[in-house]
Amino acid sequence: VSAASPAAAQIGSFLSKKPYAPPSWASHLALAPSHTFSLGHFPTPIHQWNLPNLPEGTEVWIKRDDLSGMQLSGNKVRKLEFLLSDAVAQGADCVITVGGIQSNHCRATAVAAKYLNLDCYLILRTSKLLVDQDPGLVGNLLVERLLGAHIDLVSKEEYGKIGSVALADLLKKRLLEEGRKPYVIPVGGSNSLGTWGYIEAVRELEQQIQLSGDVQFDDIVVACGSGGTIAGLALGSKLSSLKAKVHAFSVCDDPEYFYDYVQGLIDGLQSGLDSHDIVSIQNAKGLGYAMNTAEELKFVKDIATATGIVLDPVYSGKGAYAMLKDMADNPSKWKGRKVLFVHTGGLLGLYDKVDQMSSLAGSWRRMDLEESVPRKDGTVPHKIIVWMIQQLMQAITCLDLDSACRISSTSLSGLTPYRACTFISMNSSRGIRASVAGKTTNDGVSCNLCKTEKS
Ligand SMILES: Cc1ncc(COP(=O)(O)O)c(C=O)c1O
Repeated sequence: VSAASPAAAQIGSFLSKKPYAPPSWASHLALAPSHTFSLGHFPTPIHQWNLPNLPEGTEVWIKRDDLSGMQLSGNKVRKLEFLLSDAVAQGADCVITVGGIQSNHCRATAVAAKYLNLDCYLILRTSKLLVDQDPGLVGNLLVERLLGAHIDLVSKEEYGKIGSVALADLLKKRLLEEGRKPYVIPVGGSNSLGTWGYIEAVRELEQQIQLSGDVQFDDIVVACGSGGTIAGLALGSKLSSLKAKVHAFSVCDDPEYFYDYVQGLIDGLQSGLDSHDIVSIQNAKGLGYAMNTAEELKFVKDIATATGIVLDPVYSGKGAYAMLKDMADNPSKWKGRKVLFVHTGGLLGLYDKVDQMSSLAGSWRRMDLEESVPRKDGTVPHKIIVWMIQQLMQAITCLDLDSACRISSTSLSGLTPYRACTFISMNSSRGIRASVAGKTTNDGVSCNLCKTEKS
């Protein structure tokens, strides 16, 4: 699909480039983008989320950024609308980005790049044991490989020693030598430009709140993985009319790391604000990035069963788990508050947890299709034919054709109209005829019932 094609413009604005003007409350920020690509389906819905065991008077609502489109790309769509617009403006013919082996961001970038006719190069981090092997097709990898993204694997140790920036630069250098024009997107799309994605999401939220009339949120809760989402949300909430308190639950690294990282992002926008004043960050890492306890996975399962909302195990699952735990531990902090949880997507990450989740998933059974259920082709199940033959043989042995015929027609009513006499005719060559000798005709045996019907 060519983003600039006239056909796209005629049919609608999806995948087209459009001018961008920041909300008035953000107009003083630096690096305001001049354009954006329309890649997602916005506004995303907001609805009440009936979570169990909430503190008294607490309401939780959910903003469904998991429904933002672009093949389940969640929160990444908002950042990529700005990042890819910049890539295209700079004349790039391919993009490079970096992430974990099941990175949602890498997969989202691969989709967005293909939408805009750009090649995509992904550097994916995996374990030392797996780095020389085919990474397989589970979850995000399947989508990336279907899209034809170029995948380079590095081990966690190499990643730790070299760093994501140097790895991307190395690949960029190689592509430049080949005459390509690469554009590098940082881990998670979290740089100051990407931060505009969630500044813009706050404008969307403001408009949704205005339209709804009476809903006001006291708190916004979201998972944090690379920092761009909370930077945009927190800055937007502070500057706009929203003024909701933003709570981040970090799923990797520590809160202090993210306060610093967010500070760098908002400094890049020359906000003049302190990250500690605009967001509260709590640790929800648990066993470690992309690792889950059985309790966390059971939580994901229980919430899906109770509310129909499927959380991902790596981000929104850990975020919501930690939020409810905090509500249980500190009910007075949350009592009577209206809380908006942002579901950031990541559904494909669940496929990586299939083994761990198999004992939790709902049960199943073989459907009971009892013998009397009619088959579409009119055939009768083998078991019932055997039973029928037994009944018939008994009647025939007694030379009681009338009752044989009655047995077959009444006990099988609604099914293939087997008639004992027809059956006997069909099987006469197998010796049954002998047992009814004297009652056969050239047409076969006919009982009184059938004779009547024929006449
Ligand atoms: C599904 C999902 N939710 C939340 C996040 C966290 O967003 P951010 O990286 O902007 O902190 C990510 C990515 O890291 C993600 O993939």
